[in-house]
Amino acid sequence: MASATRATPDTLPAWQTLTQHAQSLQRVHLKNLFGDDASRWTNFTRQVAGLTLDLSKQRWDDDTLEHLLALAHEAGVPGAIDALLSGKRVNVSENRPALHTALRLPADAVLNVEGHNVVSDVHESLAQMERLVQRLHAGQWRGATGKPIRHVVNLGVGGSDLGPLMVTHALTDYRPKDIHPVEVHFASTMDGSQLADYLSRFNPETTIFVLSSKSFTTIDTLSNANTARDWLLGRLSNHGDVLDGSLQTRTHANPVSAELVIRQHFIGVSASPDKMSEWGIASDHQLMFWEWVGGRYSLWGTIGLPIALVVGMENFRELLAGAHAMDTHFRHAPMEDNLPVLLGLAGIWNVNFLDIRAHSILPYDGRLEYFAAYLEQLEMESNGKSVTSQGKAVNYSTCPVLWGQLGPNAQHAFYQLLHQGTQPVVCDFIAPLKRYDEVEDPDTRRHLKAQHRLALANCFAQSRVLMLGDDALEDDGPRPEHKRYRGNQPSSTVLLDKLTPATLGALIALYEHKVFVQAVIWDINPFDQWGVELGKQIATDTQAIIDGEGDLSRMDASSRGLIEAFWAAEQE
Ligand code: F6P
Repeated sequence: MASATRATPDTLPAWQTLTQHAQSLQRVHLKNLFGDDASRWTNFTRQVAGLTLDLSKQRWDDDTLEHLLALAHEAGVPGAIDALLSGKRVNVSENRPALHTALRLPADAVLNVEGHNVVSDVHESLAQMERLVQRLHAGQWRGATGKPIRHVVNLGVGGSDLGPLMVTHALTDYRPKDIHPVEVHFASTMDGSQLADYLSRFNPETTIFVLSSKSFTTIDTLSNANTARDWLLGRLSNHGDVLDGSLQTRTHANPVSAELVIRQHFIGVSASPDKMSEWGIASDHQLMFWEWVGGRYSLWGTIGLPIALVVGMENFRELLAGAHAMDTHFRHAPMEDNLPVLLGLAGIWNVNFLDIRAHSILPYDGRLEYFAAYLEQLEMESNGKSVTSQGKAVNYSTCPVLWGQLGPNAQHAFYQLLHQGTQPVVCDFIAPLKRYDEVEDPDTRRHLKAQHRLALANCFAQSRVLMLGDDALEDDGPRPEHKRYRGNQPSSTVLLDKLTPATLGALIALYEHKVFVQAVIWDINPFDQWGVELGKQIATDTQAIIDGEGDLSRMDASSRGLIEAFWAAEQE
């Protein structure tokens, strides 16, 4: 991320200071940090854009933060933020900008990137997406046989799936009323199992598919797309040419042309219009985006089509506005009050100085069911790197292992390890403060609000027990070892005033920028993902061997055994 002459982070003066400082805090328990400082909540809590970030339960003190802020300055974080947001080529290995923030700039903003104002392009693509959404919401988009569309299936994977999946799930309360009912579904897995379920249940006449793929080369998505195409052609067209026996039954009395079927049942979203055309997507059903939007940062533009279909364009624009509010804060707030900077520094402190390399994401709101999965890609695909931006192997830790689940469910699954395991883990608790105000029936509202209070009580209790351990109990009599809690486990809590499109936008942008801050300090490029390439290449070779077209004897004994087991099963 930084200039070619930059020193590696572990040689920076503040890194050395922090290493020593960490030793002095080694034996200090979090409960003592709270005991010693009555203003700890105020000192370590910040608010912006409808979010409250409580970092008081991190195992740090005022001096720690001062040294971490010095580290951020020495590593060039302020300049890097400016470079990111102004469209410099921060993605050094692919020599291009990473301009997801441009996707959420307001229409009257100007961002000249290498002599061209990208904001007008962004808003033109949003307008095109809006036109498609309006046609579907008005029931005006007709399938090849003339019926209005009821089901939209997004075929995409990674960034072309997880962001839209996560947001549509989080914002289902924001469905516009009085529109033609269109249900949105997601199929990502290359084994076809999610898609097979939809194909067994939906009417092809009223189903369309969105092929979402930045590259339009991803085999997972293209294999689902080909299956969907043949399913439609087999049922609707009079000259479907690629027909699999099991999918071939023709159900429609007046079959139509294959061209019309493909035209009316597929929308493409990609940075590669040529490939979309080659596949057969009609040019006016192609939505574009740009190489300078990373896949895992792409939900803000046309990849967000499923979101706009579920919540409407107005709410989609609110999502963008919330993210933009966080971008503005990230750019202008002083480092000591800057939420993404502080969250990023907390992570650096845990990984590099306290040696905590596991990080759990725990939302206490069922609508955020896919938030952890989304962050797993965002954080680990961005920062799971071991080479600096100048191509040198790092000799310090980078991205921790990150995983999570809805907190209330995880309490009954893996919290045992959080409280009593041998692995230190840092946790992020996430919850909305307000919930269920709009439920009309008073009795149901009362019950649901009580459930919300129950969830918040659990959220606050868990971070407290992780922090205090046994001391959370006021009456702490003698207990056997297996009933003891060590505490001293750090956590952050993010509270949303309410889960709205705008606060969700701000929350996602908070994590995007946190990842960037950490990448700058670790001197790695968060915008490429070379580590996924070799697996894809070897899978292609392996598939040839499985299909009997390659040399099995070249393979290792385990791979040979697995392939032979598969062949034997096929013979049964
Ligand atoms: O293989 C990883 C990856 O390239 C991700 O970075 C990306 O989000 C996903 O695959 C899907 O890529 P595409 O949108 O090009 O199909």
